[in-house]
Amino acid sequence: MKLTRRELIRLGAGAGVASLAGSWTSLLADASAIHRVIIPSSGQQIPCVGIGTNRYRGNIASTDMTPLARTLEAFHKMGGQVIDTSPNYGNSEEVLGKLLSDLNLRDQVFMATKVDREDQAEGRQRMETSFQQLRGPIDLMQVHNLRGTDVELETMMAWKKEGRFKYIGITTHRVEQHAEMERYMKKYPLDFIQVNYSLVDRASADRVLPLAIDQGIAVLVNRPFGNGKLFGAVKGVDLPGWAGDIDAGSWGQVFLKYIISHPAATVPIPGTTKPHHAEDNMQAMVGRMPDAGLRKEIEKTLDGLI
Ligand SMILES: NC(=O)c1ccc[n+]([C@@H]2O[C@H](COP(=O)([O-])OP(=O)(O)OC[C@H]3O[C@@H](n4cnc5c(N)ncnc54)[C@H](OP(=O)(O)O)[C@@H]3O)[C@@H](O)[C@H]2O)c1
Repeated sequence: MKLTRRELIRLGAGAGVASLAGSWTSLLADASAIHRVIIPSSGQQIPCVGIGTNRYRGNIASTDMTPLARTLEAFHKMGGQVIDTSPNYGNSEEVLGKLLSDLNLRDQVFMATKVDREDQAEGRQRMETSFQQLRGPIDLMQVHNLRGTDVELETMMAWKKEGRFKYIGITTHRVEQHAEMERYMKKYPLDFIQVNYSLVDRASADRVLPLAIDQGIAVLVNRPFGNGKLFGAVKGVDLPGWAGDIDAGSWGQVFLKYIISHPAATVPIPGTTKPHHAEDNMQAMVGRMPDAGLRKEIEKTLDGLI
């Protein structure tokens, strides 16, 4: 479920959404102008674009951290909250724990990480380590790529009951795992799934996303740019005129608005290590979104380019 334009107006956000001729920065500074997604299992609202951090790696005492810190800072400044990581992304959890603490932002983010052990004791240990590395609360714990799903969900459901996580979920980025993901979505009381969905990879719209609506499950969307492939497809191509109708100032914003406008509670988590890309991506959270007709038009345009 997501806030419609009418609901935004009802909440008093209409002025911000309607006055899009103003500067993006001032609109983004006005938190009420940002489209939010309602997490169906709790009613909590979260900003409709997050960030993926699978390349946040390196020596935390080195200058390699500077662009990553600037990117997180830009993400936060533009209203971003949802951060996705994993103990499988090198030392991404350690990097995030350190940088967010240094920036005094650790308690202002919605942190999602993962676990992927077949053995329950190892899984518990792995999750304890994630708490230590991330230096603070974990909002969402996900089973990574459906590895050890039954075993890990047993622990995760118990820990959720104890208040250690607010939400639990499962992830995949592979179409071949979608049928298995659907089975788990019917079997367990999941708050979130995380799945691959983009203009270059639309298979999850056939069954997984409709099932998420039916089951009341929120959706983090990984690979929203097809792991960067979409930018290759539009290299040197001017933005079509209809981009202005959805207040999209870049191809990246078109790609994200296509995902945000799906009727499931979809939150794309574009991976970026660059402050100007984080700023670009966060701007997709404001302004008009494509309707069903324009979504088809966007698909047609990309089909001609991919
Ligand atoms: N199974 C799983 O659980 C799973 C699998 C895959 C991914 N994920 C999660 O999903 C996140 C996103 O997926 P992804 O990073 O693989 O792919 P992606 O988000 O589709 O694409 C990332 C690529 O797009 C570039 N980019 C980002 N913003 C841009 C912009 N505004 N303009 C131009 N280029 C831009 C990035 O480069 P720059 O760094 O230069 O910006 C990077 O090369 C991951 O970080 C991870 O958190 C989860």
